Amino acid sequence: MKRQFQAEQISAAEKKGYFHIVLLADPHFPGRITSKKEEVLKRIATWEDVDFAVILGDLCEISGTPSEYKSAAHFLDMLQKPFFPISGNHDCFFSNYFSPASPSDREKKIQLFMETFQLPQMFDEIELPNQNLFFLSVDSLTSHYYTAISEPQLDWFEERLKKCKKPAIVFFHSPVFDEKFLKMAPFLENYTAQPYSRVTKIVRENPQINLWVSGHIHLAPTNPFFFHDSTFFEGRRLNLFNCDISGMSIFVGAGPSLENHGKFWTQSLFLYPDKAISRFFYHGTEQWIENWTRNFPLKNI
Ligand SMILES: [Fe+2]
Repeated sequence: MKRQFQAEQISAAEKKGYFHIVLLADPHFPGRITSKKEEVLKRIATWEDVDFAVILGDLCEISGTPSEYKSAAHFLDMLQKPFFPISGNHDCFFSNYFSPASPSDREKKIQLFMETFQLPQMFDEIELPNQNLFFLSVDSLTSHYYTAISEPQLDWFEERLKKCKKPAIVFFHSPVFDEKFLKMAPFLENYTAQPYSRVTKIVRENPQINLWVSGHIHLAPTNPFFFHDSTFFEGRRLNLFNCDISGMSIFVGAGPSLENHGKFWTQSLFLYPDKAISRFFYHGTEQWIENWTRNFPLKNI
């Protein structure tokens, strides 16, 4: 498993002038259209300037069984790049489809996640020369929400943020929605990072968090909600949504109705000393979609 991101790789990226991070959300391995998933992973393996990938949760198809984890490890090996996996609800929350697992079962699934990807813990931080990256995971054993972070993990996150004066970029399975959107659709409580009051307090008190990079919502980037106001949190440009790479996305509206399809987009984040550029690659025509490119100035506090 090529996970480790070494100091020499950081200096190689610095010489190149930017970091290229490929964002892969919700692959749900093995799931449907496995040959297309394989094609996408093998294509990314040929991109020479990629520094690493982040797998934004829901690596497992349904409930984080040993065979799903085995499949996830098998597919991700095709990347041939270092990668940082974070867990989603389908990796450690469900016992069966839409039924929450018991605390001891969740603990076993989390253990399996760490064993599969050789992780000492479920969360991590990488200090790059100009940004700090935080990798958070769904790991609550007791929450009834799909995507909840445990209190010890949030304690660690808060402590680390106190020391972080550089622009911070957070990777977590679900976005942080502004309260006005939660009020519009109660089902969104399962589609925002929980526990909501503590997570939003941390985000509010730490303006050095420049971007919150997420998966989970399975929105196709052609959906008008993808580049919508819902990416903002309290007037702040914050959320960077990612489309799933499972062929099950929402093309119309914001409701949780998934459509099966065979389209694959991946988003790449290019980190420069003072900005992040996001670009989309459409694997159908093997082209970058230049008119979806966005520029995010990165601010210190
Ligand atoms: Fe999810």
